Amino acid sequence: KIYPVIMCGGSGTRLWPLSRKALPKQYQPIVTDKSMLRETMRRFPSTAPLKFMPPSFVCAEHHQKHILQACDAEGVTPHKIILEPCAKNTAPVAACTALILGEDDSDALILLLPADHHIEAATKFWDSIQSGVTRALDGALVTFGIQPTGPETGYGYIRAGKNVGTDSYEVEAFVEKPDLDTAKSYLRAGNYSWNSGMFLFTAETMISSFQKHAPQILKSCETAIKSGTYSQPSLFLDYESFAACESNSIDYAIMEKAENVNVISPVNIGWSDIGSWDSIRERAIEQGALNAGAGDIVDIDCKNTLIRSDTLTIAAIGLEDIIIVATDDAVLITKAGDSQKVKDVVDTLKSRD
Ligand code: GDD
Ligand code: MG
Repeated sequence: KIYPVIMCGGSGTRLWPLSRKALPKQYQPIVTDKSMLRETMRRFPSTAPLKFMPPSFVCAEHHQKHILQACDAEGVTPHKIILEPCAKNTAPVAACTALILGEDDSDALILLLPADHHIEAATKFWDSIQSGVTRALDGALVTFGIQPTGPETGYGYIRAGKNVGTDSYEVEAFVEKPDLDTAKSYLRAGNYSWNSGMFLFTAETMISSFQKHAPQILKSCETAIKSGTYSQPSLFLDYESFAACESNSIDYAIMEKAENVNVISPVNIGWSDIGSWDSIRERAIEQGALNAGAGDIVDIDCKNTLIRSDTLTIAAIGLEDIIIVATDDAVLITKAGDSQKVKDVVDTLKSRD
């Protein structure tokens, strides 16, 4: 039995102005006409050859209604909904998940998933998961590696070591978000893959990894669960203990430090991260769909320019490698390649509030 757990508590600031606090990107239809959360849920149906349990979710308390709506729309009864009173990044998400699902079954296999990816061939991904199951049951933290296509600095990089099965390797090094020069050297070296951000492990392995590498986070999560409020299938984590928890990602807190990491690589599943406007533009170029949204767009002599408008009419002339995104109340214009800095825009706006 595999328990898919979808992490959907990110704020998606890099997709401003589309992604907003009230409705982050994962609850919006970005790639298809269904929300990214619904697309994520649909990849792990109970009818698959692997035995997937109904999905669980970890999200911000005030977004519970979006989870319930998505489950309703997909006809799914959620296994657990873990509700966070504040965002502490993905390490506490992993710790709480392992503690809660592990309570019923410490051998429970957990498939931890982001809600901000597009995967073209989910059925192929099932094969990769299958390759990871034995390793995970043996006590490994299993990652899924993507063949890198450029020196992206927004990803984790995984250096594969000894081959231990079909497409399965021990991991020599896991480096989260290296700087540009380091990323370039990894690409030249050739034996690195991108971390897809999906992880397979047993509850027991994850809990002992936290005991070793991030015991304080584990402790805060234990207390937040113990003092939390249950209302099946939801658990509201206790505010005080969770607020006191260190904020960190699973990549920095655990994956960079752990010695029992495995990678299934490469997974050829048509993976794309919908994490930034650059990645959306690259996908749009491949698909020949650079103009998007319900607004009217007039594009004269533009090249490789993404123009997305909700309602405004946008006219652009002679632009090359530019990104324009317009919602009802804000417009973003940036050079392609710079869209990681959208986060700084959001920080600046926040500081003016
Ligand atoms: N519940 C909850 N709470 N979910 C969260 C939180 C939180 O505080 N923070 C982030 N998430 C969710 C996001 O919604 C997303 O679905 C997922 O966790 C990953 O978080 P991101 O913030 O998008 O991480 P990232 O893109 O910077 O990096 C991760 O993904 C890359 C691939 O896309 C890392 O795992 C990298 O190593 C990896 O390459
Ligand atoms: Mg992301």
